[in-house]
Amino acid sequence: MNRLGYISVLISHFFTPATNTPLKANIVLLPGDGIGPEIVTQAQRVLETVAKSFGHQFEFSSHMIGGIAIDTCGDPLPQETIDACRDADAILLGAVGGPKWDDPSAKTRPEVGLLKIRKELGLFANLRPIRLFDELLDASPLRRDIIEGTDILFLRELTGGIYFGESGTGGNGQEESAYQSMVYSVGEVERIVRLAAKAAQGRGNRLTSVDKANVLEPSRLWRRVAAKVMQEEFPDVQYDVVLVDAMAMHLINRPSDFDVVVTGNMFGDILTDEASMLPGSLGMLPSASLGSDGPGLYEPIHGSAPDIAGQEIANPLATILASAMLLRHSLGLESEATSIESAVQAVLSDGLRTHDIARGGEAIGTNSMGSAVVDRLTV
Ligand code: NAD
Ligand code: IPM
Ligand code: MN
Repeated sequence: MNRLGYISVLISHFFTPATNTPLKANIVLLPGDGIGPEIVTQAQRVLETVAKSFGHQFEFSSHMIGGIAIDTCGDPLPQETIDACRDADAILLGAVGGPKWDDPSAKTRPEVGLLKIRKELGLFANLRPIRLFDELLDASPLRRDIIEGTDILFLRELTGGIYFGESGTGGNGQEESAYQSMVYSVGEVERIVRLAAKAAQGRGNRLTSVDKANVLEPSRLWRRVAAKVMQEEFPDVQYDVVLVDAMAMHLINRPSDFDVVVTGNMFGDILTDEASMLPGSLGMLPSASLGSDGPGLYEPIHGSAPDIAGQEIANPLATILASAMLLRHSLGLESEATSIESAVQAVLSDGLRTHDIARGGEAIGTNSMGSAVVDRLTV
């Protein structure tokens, strides 16, 4: 198949009709740790069902990342996994990490594998849509009248900033210290802001940039560069800037005021976990990580949830919704993506809930939720 560049992918999402041609695609699965394998299994079942009903051929291969890769070969991102990802049309990841690998003095960490695959594939744009399902309006800890009408697309910069800045340690005793620097270049800010502005043009035409320009030098560069891009290239898009601390508050006070939000790596990480409480659970939020070419990587925004791993109670819907994003953004299969989203909506309408969204009510397990989505896809 043709690999689409990120701009055409986004544009195809908003403007071009879906293809009806049967498609062959090579999908790499990276189940990872904790609940990762449990939820990826369900998303794979969903993708297999879609392939069958729409006449596509999806080939899956599973590869190691994170803690399991450390245990097996001492490396959280083996070269074999990188090679498989490079050859893939799209990648679906579960989660990495867990207490077993949390020793601060360990040589490496599961999270290093995830950061490295993002960097290796140049996945600088992390799309995190905050979509509310009407059926879950009362699953949120926030009041229905506050969250109603919320529909936000976060664009989190994913391969720069403090996550990838120079770091080090030194000294002893009270003088022992550690540092990690936050660096952003003009080019890095321009490309993510451009993408966010284009996304805004395809929806509510409003963009909010979030920074900490009152304190941080890289945020001041971010603000200046973003303003220039918006003024020169997107004068039609309604644009504003908000400081990250205030944004944390606005998100739970007036979430429905926001359309597209663009921000740096760490702020985007934190704000989207907070935003997961709008739809009601981290278990509902998918994400897509895209670069200027090559395969996209799709994953839930949550982690490996060690507290519930192995119990078959994790919510697989975030990963299933990530597989819908995979079909849309990497394979150009809009109707197929929509069919998954509608199936998810249907199971929620039927009152089916995993424990995280049941809020004390009756809950079903991971596999039953996956089966329910598969059933709705086949009727
Ligand atoms: P977490 O996201 O794993 O879990 C936070 C809380 O949300 C937990 O109570 C968990 O049970 C719940 N939760 C998360 N996903 C759920 C789901 N699908 N269904 C039901 N409940 C769900 O965050 P954490 O506990 O802070 O981190 C655990 C590990 O995961 C750490 O090692 C961290 O580094 C890693 N992590 C990985 C990723 C990733 O791979 N993309 C993302 C975040 C955290
Ligand atoms: C996420 C996670 C990762 C991040 C960690 C596990 C490296 O929290 O995908 O949101 O901070 O980006
Ligand atoms: Mn996170």
